Amino acid sequence: MLKCPLIYFGKGAFARVGTLKGKRALIVTDKKISELGFVREAQERLQKAGMQSRVFDKVEPDPKDSTAYNCADTATDFKPDWIIGLGGGSPIDVAKGAFFLYERPDVSLPQINPYQFYGLRKKAQLMAIPTTSGTGSEVSIGVALTDTNSGRKLAIACFELVPDIAIVDPDLAFKMPAQLRASTGIDALVHAVESYLTKMSNVFTNPIAIEATRTIFKFLERSFKEGDEEAMERMHYAATLAGIAFTNSGLGIAHGIGHSIGALFHIPHGLAVGVALPYAIQYCAKQSKGRYLDILHALEVKGVTSTNSSQKLMSKVKELMTRVEVPTTLESLPINKQEFRDKISTLASFAATDVSTFTSPRMPTAEQMKTILEYMLDDKPIDF
Ligand SMILES: [Fe+2]
Repeated sequence: MLKCPLIYFGKGAFARVGTLKGKRALIVTDKKISELGFVREAQERLQKAGMQSRVFDKVEPDPKDSTAYNCADTATDFKPDWIIGLGGGSPIDVAKGAFFLYERPDVSLPQINPYQFYGLRKKAQLMAIPTTSGTGSEVSIGVALTDTNSGRKLAIACFELVPDIAIVDPDLAFKMPAQLRASTGIDALVHAVESYLTKMSNVFTNPIAIEATRTIFKFLERSFKEGDEEAMERMHYAATLAGIAFTNSGLGIAHGIGHSIGALFHIPHGLAVGVALPYAIQYCAKQSKGRYLDILHALEVKGVTSTNSSQKLMSKVKELMTRVEVPTTLESLPINKQEFRDKISTLASFAATDVSTFTSPRMPTAEQMKTILEYMLDDKPIDF
């Protein structure tokens, strides 16, 4: 099975909002996106299509589960037959969480089991329109929300949360500032690489992951430095491709660790998974050298052997991160070292039990995960 929404892509695809069939649409977004005029345009197009709309624009960066519950209350009141997530990963994730709760108010978010069928879509369908180029949430099973009680990042996965329709229009991403283009682009890179390495990667996801990786290596630096339309457009598509790949093959420990660090230290997701990727590559080398060779060959890296593939891939990743000016080590993130040490057992336990970790080609124990985090703190090469 390859799970994927109907995707309208290309410049001008946003107009497809006006082709929805229904009575009421709830648009889930944030204040910044509202100010850019995209919400107004969506509402105008919906009105022309004979649909009423309501806007929930209270999504905060790094959103809490409580925001999804509030948004679901709005849905219960408004009774939409479409829920539209419009924005970066945060509004889309809140839209997906609220969609689930609107459909199944009897199930709480932490109870969602990736292998269970919940019979969603009795009340509404889901559309996602990304304005950033990274999370892939517009095509993915994933929802990342912070659990208000535990402070833990809830990495929810459910195949029924793959949107029905995704609109992937690069015009909406052109307003992203350079720094955001870099950090979201690195998130997309981690999706592409991890999805190629997982236990569940397969003949359908492999070429998608490789193409996404190749595109990101080719265009991310240009998108960051020059911000030209071609580079940003290609990055927008690559992020969606990587999203399709990981939805159908899973992720790995860079995401397990990134979710854990992101939740406890409020580090932007792309930066948190980015610093973890080089260590994930080293840790998984025993199982994945052949896969590293495939990626390096696709990137036309010379002088690669099975013995040096781990080092070469790690260097290649770090090189790109440096060129787009994102931190390559934990030390460069705004994290207090002592606080990190104090929380290391909690971090390790969150990371080891994160849903992304379960598809890693090599599964660390909680104790090994703790050691990986200690090595990350001291920027020490993984030797076990
Ligand atoms: Fe991610």
